[in-house]
Amino acid sequence: MNKYNPARVALGRLPTPIERLETLSKKYKKNIWIKRDDLSETALSGNKVRKLEYIVAEALENKADVLVTWGAVQSNHCRATAIAAARLGMKSHLVLRGSEPNEADGNLLIDKLVNSRISYQTPDEYGKMDKTYELLQTQYEKEGKKTFRIPVGGSNETGLWGYINCARELVSDFKNIGFNPEAIVCATGSGGTQGGLILGADLHQIDGQIFGINVCDNKRYFENKIGEDINLWLEKYSPATSKATQLQTNIIEGYVGEGYGKASAEIFETIREVAELEGILLDPVYTGKAFHGMISEIENGCLARFQDILFIHTGGIFGIFPHKENMV
Ligand SMILES: Cc1ncc(COP(=O)(O)O)c(C=O)c1O
Repeated sequence: MNKYNPARVALGRLPTPIERLETLSKKYKKNIWIKRDDLSETALSGNKVRKLEYIVAEALENKADVLVTWGAVQSNHCRATAIAAARLGMKSHLVLRGSEPNEADGNLLIDKLVNSRISYQTPDEYGKMDKTYELLQTQYEKEGKKTFRIPVGGSNETGLWGYINCARELVSDFKNIGFNPEAIVCATGSGGTQGGLILGADLHQIDGQIFGINVCDNKRYFENKIGEDINLWLEKYSPATSKATQLQTNIIEGYVGEGYGKASAEIFETIREVAELEGILLDPVYTGKAFHGMISEIENGCLARFQDILFIHTGGIFGIFPHKENMV
């Protein structure tokens, strides 16, 4: 479908391992495997490093000095961007939604450690991203520096390459372990992971259906967002094909709970169970909610009909620490 070879900077420790969840497979009477993208690096760990490998390559091609991006105060994407910049001798500027907390914990602590410049904004100011970017661009130009804009979550047509590449990795994983999942499940927060997997599964002939469990917004929002990103990708990299409408976006909704970043007691219970039974850490914002959703749907929902299931662990470990009072 596509012969384009995009520029890439190797930032992650790839390929990541794939493992069977022995105890949980027994408990839920399924074959449940996990792709350990939480092991894609240490400070840079998680799904974002895969997207940034391609986005930062574009920034370097543009001769940029400062990576500018947006997110919540505890954004994994912002932390990964800040570290990627530090690794490559660049600067980063993070625009964070919310006020500065008294204590820098979790991802924010790391943002500060790598000396990222941070602006805190009210939700209203945060919504005006074009205006903020223009101001930052002008400000950095005066310092003789060129900025590069990275969208929320690194989810755009360039970032999609990250999980297209992961899908390629999965093909050899499946061959090595003799496993061909019927369902592949991930957390969906800005859409790029799921969108990349959908395209990658199509490009690399993976049979399993891709399911995203949204941790914010809703099904309709992500069907549109992922569809738009895939269309942009097709336009830019694969003009001969126009298959976006044939690619299915499966969003499982119902697990956002009280809202983005807010986890209920049952999410913490799932996090504890997976930690205790498998020695794997999930986070309360993304992977904990998605894993909880997956188990619920296995027990009594749209995943019950599948026997072989793969969960993509997209990282987020530093998000545990700001929620420590609910963890034990
Ligand atoms: C740990 C973690 N998992 C999953 C996601 C969701 O991925 P995406 O933004 O590509 O939908 C994110 C970021 O949003 C994340 O930080």
